Amino acid sequence: MPKYDIKVNGVSNSVDVAEDTPLLWVLRDHLDLVGTKYGCGIAQCGACTVHLGGNAVRSCSLPIASVAGQEITTIEGLSEDGSHPVQVAWKEVDVPQCGYCQAGQIMTASAFLDKNPNPTSDEIKTAMHGNICRCASYTRIHRAVEVAAT
Ligand code: FES
Repeated sequence: MPKYDIKVNGVSNSVDVAEDTPLLWVLRDHLDLVGTKYGCGIAQCGACTVHLGGNAVRSCSLPIASVAGQEITTIEGLSEDGSHPVQVAWKEVDVPQCGYCQAGQIMTASAFLDKNPNPTSDEIKTAMHGNICRCASYTRIHRAVEVAAT
């Protein structure tokens, strides 16, 4: 199998996997970064969201061959101690219920706020629209993004 070099959370890695292996499974199964979750596997729920070159992307649908050589950040790399402003806001608002989707929500929110630090309410709704929460914690997610933006 070919080897692919990827930089995840500032660390260079070389993984030996088939070219169509989704990034999600490289992160979880080969690099032990299990904070990124599997929800649907077809880019529909957002549970697997990570940053690729600063953009929020769905790792379940990105073959490793398409991301080789690029910088990836997972929830584990957002901060060392949960001190990223979005993580702090999430705790302040007490967002999660079951928690399963929250890493993906936080990664979407943080990439969004990096590009738009002072969003309107409608912009937050649009940005977070594609991240599904089975517990329907949407009101708290929205509030936490507002708090993180202040
Ligand atoms: Fe990737 Fe649902 S698991 S979008």
